[in-house]
Amino acid sequence: MGSAPVRGSEGYAEAAAELIQRYDSLAFAEVHRPVLHLIPCVPCSAVDIGAGTGRDAAHLAAMGHRVVAVEPTDALRIPGMALHPSPLIEWVDDSLPDLAVLRARRQSFDLVMLTAVWAHLDAAQRCAAMPNLAAVLRIGGVMIMSIRHGPAPPTRRTFDVSAEETIELARAQGLAVTANLRTGSVQEANRRAGVTWTRLAFVRAQEP
Ligand SMILES: C[S@@+](CC[C@H](N)C(=O)[O-])C[C@H]1O[C@@H](n2cnc3c(N)ncnc32)[C@H](O)[C@@H]1O
Repeated sequence: MGSAPVRGSEGYAEAAAELIQRYDSLAFAEVHRPVLHLIPCVPCSAVDIGAGTGRDAAHLAAMGHRVVAVEPTDALRIPGMALHPSPLIEWVDDSLPDLAVLRARRQSFDLVMLTAVWAHLDAAQRCAAMPNLAAVLRIGGVMIMSIRHGPAPPTRRTFDVSAEETIELARAQGLAVTANLRTGSVQEANRRAGVTWTRLAFVRAQEP
């Protein structure tokens, strides 16, 4: 018997065969269009937390960034390693809220990406996660998040999370909000179902 899924990742292993194809068919530039201007152009160190199949990690690596792709679901991480075998990507089995592996290594990054993950964490996990996200973001670095709103598959653990709560949690950790946008979905089925997204960006300007 396998171990229980990390809290927040329930339902992903079972759906992996379909999700691998779906996630990797999306273009980074489409998914991140509203915040593309915030992605550093000069090669830097990045971490993509809840990296899925590594679509975004692969794009960042192609831009010259060194990327740690954090993904707790074996059924996404292992195929993702095969799909995107870049020497600039390191895959790590780690998870929110603790980010125990990254924290133990004392790693920090210029760019932290958290795409379509935050709404899978409950309120206590979000409170516990934000200090760890702030800790892995270098001073002057940028964190870019997306938060899903609206209907979600019943097999996934999903919460209705506000931008305001997230901004307040981040502010308490010394992260200043630099973008707060509400957008539609790039996936047609989700658009039709009424899914919308909050896009947030933060800079770490000071010690928490
Ligand atoms: C909607 S998918 C998004 C994947 C990828 N970021 C993308 O945009 O294609 C959500 C991802 O979050 C991961 N996840 C869920 N709970 C997590 C947690 N507690 N810590 C880290 N990742 C988690 C899932 O395994 C899944 O890969």
